[in-house]
Amino acid sequence: MVGAGGREHALVAALRRSPRAPEVLCAPGSAGIARDGVHCLDVGTGDLEGLVVAAREEACDLVVIGPEAPLVAGLVDELADGQVRAFGPSGAAARIEGSKAYAKEVMEAAGVPTPGHVVLSDHEAALAALEGTSYPLVLKADVLAAGKGVVVCADEDEARTALEAFFAERRFGATTVVLEEFLDGEEVSLLALCDGERALPMAPARDFKRIGDGDRGPNTGGMGSFSPVAGIDAERTEELVRLVHQPVLDELRRRGTPYHGVLYAGLMFTAGGPQVLEFNCRFGDPETQAVLPRLRSDLPELCLAAREPGGLGGAEAEFGDDFAVAVVLASAGYPESSSKGDVISGLEEAAAIADVFHAGTAERDGEIVTAGGRVLAVTGLGASPAAARSRAYDAASKIEFKGMQIRTDIAARAVDRVATG
Ligand code: AMP
Ligand code: GLY
Repeated sequence: MVGAGGREHALVAALRRSPRAPEVLCAPGSAGIARDGVHCLDVGTGDLEGLVVAAREEACDLVVIGPEAPLVAGLVDELADGQVRAFGPSGAAARIEGSKAYAKEVMEAAGVPTPGHVVLSDHEAALAALEGTSYPLVLKADVLAAGKGVVVCADEDEARTALEAFFAERRFGATTVVLEEFLDGEEVSLLALCDGERALPMAPARDFKRIGDGDRGPNTGGMGSFSPVAGIDAERTEELVRLVHQPVLDELRRRGTPYHGVLYAGLMFTAGGPQVLEFNCRFGDPETQAVLPRLRSDLPELCLAAREPGGLGGAEAEFGDDFAVAVVLASAGYPESSSKGDVISGLEEAAAIADVFHAGTAERDGEIVTAGGRVLAVTGLGASPAAARSRAYDAASKIEFKGMQIRTDIAARAVDRVATG
């Protein structure tokens, strides 16, 4: 397993649940993954050569890659060159996440519904493009930005300020910006395992992107999630995959860059139907922490099958009837900054109630301390959204660290919706 976040902690747990009982190693892993008895290798996710060497030395049968950056940088291609099997898209296929402008081009070619947009690489031209647009307007840096490169602008003043940050201050390191029509609706993350030809849907999830309750404040990597989502049953899920994932798989295959791995569609359900806001080339974080604890199928087997063209034919991703709610605990200052080195207490009490996934932690003198923006994700499972939600929050209430940020409204409406039918 490559990665160190909460998503990877949940992936490691799901891989180890396989009846094959695989030995799992993690590079670089985290304090939480190590405490679960998984051997962590001291190789960072940016050290592609080091990862290939480590995978060869350890004779790994399969490398599963969590984060987008090594995928976009071509880790799967380098592993293949080193005769190591990996689960994930090639660098060329991962461009669907690496460049928002490219993703838009693919969606247009494939006929996938997505909001109207213009791509601009010049400050003056971008300012000119603001003339005559309507607000709110969405600006997206054409670069990997860990969920933080998107600004929703309420009026022209905000758009000008955002363009200043993009172009003059180079805040996101991007030279290109996508201006996109603002859509209103409910968001759903629909992930599918892809074998180059076909997409096998995972259970739908909802992510909470904003830092504050009531969806206020700036976008983050994600502050919580739940799965499944009311109204999106198996049949609807299949329909969505036919509308969204399948045309993209067909288009990428046609371009000679077939997509193997997880294809994550960020959907918005508008009055006019579903629209794609983004594609990601990997499992979502924190969606994975709500989706994978519900998976009943053998994850390593599915990952291996997805490597062969058409290999998932006949395979099924089966999920339990339970609900899962994941609540993220973030450090002071997130998403603008993060605070490190604060001692975390209550982890064992919380783990007795729910799954505790470490996202940004370190071990110091036998204690677990904060080491990132998102620190932990706590996942509660239950027979109803209400039961899952109260389990997650009950467990989270046991945990304390200085400046801890937590949203109090994750899955609150999912609970209301069930209560009112
Ligand atoms: P993205 O990285 O493109 O998914 O954008 C991150 C988040 O920004 C999304 O999950 C939405 O919450 C919001 N967002 C992105 N594009 C739009 C849009 N066109 N209209 C409204 N909100 C958007
Ligand atoms: N939770 C949003 C993402 O993984 O991109």
